[in-house]
Amino acid sequence: MIGLSQVQMVEFPLHGDERGRLVVVEGMKDIPFDIKRLFYIYGSDKDVVRGTHANRKSEFVLINVAGTSKVKVKDGLGNEKVFDLDRPNIGVYLPTLVWKDMYDFSADSVLLVLSNEPYDATEYIRDYDEFCRIVSEQKGE
Ligand code: TYD
Repeated sequence: MIGLSQVQMVEFPLHGDERGRLVVVEGMKDIPFDIKRLFYIYGSDKDVVRGTHANRKSEFVLINVAGTSKVKVKDGLGNEKVFDLDRPNIGVYLPTLVWKDMYDFSADSVLLVLSNEPYDATEYIRDYDEFCRIVSEQKGE
């Protein structure tokens, strides 16, 4: 499982005292890249599936800073894993060239996404068959 073996849950330092809690995510320290972009997804219904793409250049860390969701990750070779994002101080690291589906959003879900790359629509692979082709070509190299 070349691609999926790099997909990992990450637990972030949680600083808590009587004033509340604070979670820290530093690039190249708590996650394996410098952060060039962040975006967040909220207001998605429970039956919505987002993502449904792979990336040639972007790596991601996904954190449900509020609420919960799930992420299904596929390597294009028949292997898949599901990750539950159900605490604000855990995330999942996704390397390049893995297919991801985000779903099962709670009504209060705010899914924060950090990336090593600025947005470039041309590095997104949005066709699953094309993704499988690219992965098997890479494997053959
Ligand atoms: P999309 O990739 O469909 O979101 P997701 O995969 O997370 O469900 O993006 C939705 C829209 O937002 C689309 O028009 C492209 C735009 N967008 C940006 O402009 N910059 C970004 O960094 C991202 C992730 C999306």
